[in-house]
Amino acid sequence: MEHFLKDSSESLREKVVLLDFGGQYSMLIARRVREAGVYCEMLPCDTSWKKILEHSPVGIIFSGSPASVYQEKAPRVDPAIYEGGVPILGICYGMHLLAGDLGGEVKKGSRSEYGRTSFTIEEPEPLFKDASFRDDSFCNGWMSHQDEVLSPPPGFNVLARTENNTMAAIGNHAQKIYGVQFHPEVFHTPGGNNVLQNFLFEVCHCSKTWTPRSFIEDATARIRQVIGGQEKVVCALSGGVDSSVVAFLLDKAVAHRVVYIFVDHGLLRLDEAKEVVKLYREKLQGEFLHIDARERFLNRLAGVKDPEEKRKIIGNEFIAVFKENALSRGDISYLAQGTIYPDVIESGSACGAAVIKSHHNVGGLPEELGFELIEPLRELFKDEVRLVGSELGLPDSILKRQPFPGPGLAVRIIGAVSAEKLSLLQKADAIFRNEVTKAGLADQLWQYFAVLTDVNVVGVKGDDRHYGPVIALRAVVSEDAMTADWAKLSLDLLGKISARITGEIPEVARGVYDITSKPPGTIEWE
Ligand code: XMP
Repeated sequence: MEHFLKDSSESLREKVVLLDFGGQYSMLIARRVREAGVYCEMLPCDTSWKKILEHSPVGIIFSGSPASVYQEKAPRVDPAIYEGGVPILGICYGMHLLAGDLGGEVKKGSRSEYGRTSFTIEEPEPLFKDASFRDDSFCNGWMSHQDEVLSPPPGFNVLARTENNTMAAIGNHAQKIYGVQFHPEVFHTPGGNNVLQNFLFEVCHCSKTWTPRSFIEDATARIRQVIGGQEKVVCALSGGVDSSVVAFLLDKAVAHRVVYIFVDHGLLRLDEAKEVVKLYREKLQGEFLHIDARERFLNRLAGVKDPEEKRKIIGNEFIAVFKENALSRGDISYLAQGTIYPDVIESGSACGAAVIKSHHNVGGLPEELGFELIEPLRELFKDEVRLVGSELGLPDSILKRQPFPGPGLAVRIIGAVSAEKLSLLQKADAIFRNEVTKAGLADQLWQYFAVLTDVNVVGVKGDDRHYGPVIALRAVVSEDAMTADWAKLSLDLLGKISARITGEIPEVARGVYDITSKPPGTIEWE
């Protein structure tokens, strides 16, 4: 599919192209560039020069790579790139590659440099032009490599050297081609951001055109251009950040020509459905379809214990409800979805980045539905989606909403789902969330939620023996959900939450806390 925001003629946005050689920090480089206010798009390293030129880049960055330039089938670039007159910055592997391609000598390093290495700057301008570097010309850089540049290509100067006399940075000022052996993008390289920014602003002379506001202007203009005339677009809302931002963008762009569908499957948290419906109804101008499908989902889920089976039923049912209410109308041509940038690159990178598992998302509708797909967030990282949402005026309750699985509470009720179990879990979960928020910890946790186990145990309530279910509490810290650590909540807080849950919900016999990290656990229980 074509890039949704393929630069239209009216866009003034400047773009830096990041060629991805499969390095573990590639995505981080793109984020750092964007944080500096310059749009950065990641392309596979073997993209032809002709294709790269279609992006009209003002600068090109070569990422690092797990490969060595000496490896058979080492990833390479189209050589025409060096003749294009566009400034280039090679990082680690990227530096070895350009040094070798342009006639320098690259050799397997006599010793591997991993972690923190000091280097001295020999030429501060332009890459190291920054107070923190100039004050002491002796800097720390974060390295992870084996190969090294033995002699720079003709026309290149050595800009910095490590304490082992390895070339830490080289540059050809006339051609504006630079290479750094260290990783300026990682947090452990103090001043690394300055090196990237110096490349952007001193070498490429970028202006800061990548802002939430400029994105919104471009996106709304493009949406108007795509959805011309009297056509309508349908947008499925889940209450999550991504679909909400899509909705608010559509609202700004084509207002009354949007049909919003909120399918209430009854698997959301306590009062969540009511809150999101109220917000959407108040703020959005288009037609709003609130489909109460609670009973229908519960009937389909009755007696089903297997987690994958539950997921499948919910996904299929969602599509069925959607079809009945949207396809049958006949006045809708487009379907808007909240696909974001990491989803796009995970499926499109050609140079060996690890494949990351994808979840079945209830909101992810199949393309075969017969609508044209519109994905206005295809270029954004998650934190950028939040910034755009904030600029569009979305409330914090949506912007800061913790990730929530598409199949909802159905995968937090172990075993078969029923209306009684749902209601019990919603109450326990609300108490947990309330206490975490009161303790001021909500922003520090990636996710925190209650799980209704299928274990019943004996207890005493009042003077009577009580037999009832165990509620498990799960709270994790994480950067990206790929790995997670269990959150070290204080014992006092945990005690208070358990006491409230067993005290306020008559059925619950016990509360336990899950102290499993991911791996070996997963964040959810099912
Ligand atoms: P796990 O449990 O695999 O979850 O560690 C990682 C992240 O994904 C969320 N999750 C889902 N999201 N559909 C979704 O849209 C799903 O089926 C699903 N299962 C898990 C989970 O909440 C966590 O943030």
